[in-house]
Amino acid sequence: MVNTHNVRFEPVGIDIEVREDQTILRAAAEQGIMLPHGCKEGQCASCKSFLLEGDDIDLDKYSTFALPDFELDDGFTLLCRAHPFEDLTIELLNYDEEMIRSGLPIQTATAEVVSIEAVTHDMRHLIVRLVEPTELRFFPGQYVDFTVPGTEESRSFSMANTTSKENGQLEFIIRLYPGGVFSEYLDKQLTVGERVEIVGPFGVFTLRDNPKADLVFVGGGAGMAPILSLLRAMVEREVTRKATFYYGARGPKDLCFEKELRALEESLPGFKYVPALSEPTTAEDWSGETGLITDVLKAHESDLSGTDAYVCGPPPMVEAAIPVLTGLGVDPKRVFYDKFTTTGEPDNAG
Ligand SMILES: Cc1cc2nc3c(=O)[nH]c(=O)nc-3n(C[C@H](O)[C@H](O)[C@H](O)COP(=O)(O)OP(=O)(O)OC[C@H]3O[C@@H](n4cnc5c(N)ncnc54)[C@H](O)[C@@H]3O)c2cc1C
Ligand code: FES
Repeated sequence: MVNTHNVRFEPVGIDIEVREDQTILRAAAEQGIMLPHGCKEGQCASCKSFLLEGDDIDLDKYSTFALPDFELDDGFTLLCRAHPFEDLTIELLNYDEEMIRSGLPIQTATAEVVSIEAVTHDMRHLIVRLVEPTELRFFPGQYVDFTVPGTEESRSFSMANTTSKENGQLEFIIRLYPGGVFSEYLDKQLTVGERVEIVGPFGVFTLRDNPKADLVFVGGGAGMAPILSLLRAMVEREVTRKATFYYGARGPKDLCFEKELRALEESLPGFKYVPALSEPTTAEDWSGETGLITDVLKAHESDLSGTDAYVCGPPPMVEAAIPVLTGLGVDPKRVFYDKFTTTGEPDNAG
């Protein structure tokens, strides 16, 4: 029998039971407690927390970029990697009180592929229909983990739709990486009607209730998925906050969902879509913004104080956007982001 231990989180005063064969983050997710997290794989540091009492912990493999040795020695830990072997008290850092108690317990589900469509040369729009259970509750902006068929590997993908309640469907926008474990499967093998295993929801990239604040979204690549989900949710909820979506792509062939985003400018009062290309091929094929999305953001905005910012895409883009946003006046606590970290080999075995 596997032993369980009590883990208490401060300053929120929440207790959970964690089995030794579970990570603390996973046990919390199963109990509907949404602790701060991103990659769940020891890469992004979003779940970094501080041990107040107890230190008998085993850490799965993680990156020393996420938890350098000196921080480990000082008592920091990664909740997505930590297995407790005694009762613990943990101080949460950067937690979001609004999110923490609003978690939806994670579910494992089987789904059937409905369609796979190319939306750009290297991005696919995947729609699956839940078979068992037939509904998976999630908040717009969250993600699920797919098991790569025939392997023990899993990959995270954010929903682009807002609910599975009406038609049991989940929608994803997935970028293909050459040689990628999931990418190759999606591109070459996955077929309509095939069944896939998913687990979720995870993630804290959800729209915070702050009706007076303007919104700025910054996205790149498949970071389109959760931002589209948030924008679609704003239409459904008739949110009228001023909102601008800065989307960075390389060339015109990398843009997708343009028609829907332009239509959103009509249906969402105060919404503006600003795509920018870093590598337009000719002046004729693009009359819009050019340059890095962070430079375009700086050129368009002079004061973002009081604004809520949502950033999603490849880690370098997210890391570049955060200081630009805070430099323009966004409160660092009001920059919400999802880094699409890779699952590659971590550089440290903890
Ligand atoms: C919270 C979260 C949500 C995510 N949501 C989405 C989503 O909605 N859509 C989506 O497409 N992806 C998303 N991702 C990324 C996704 O989970 C995979 O990491 C990605 O699709 C690559 O998986 P793969 O198996 O194809 O490639 P891997 O086998 O993992 O990698 C193969 C090669 O591709 C390179 N590579 C992989 N990812 C990247 C990257 N981001 N940038 C540069 N090179 C890379 C790797 O370095 C490696 O050399 C998300 C990740 C996280 C953590
Ligand atoms: S969620 Fe733990 S390091 Fe990313």
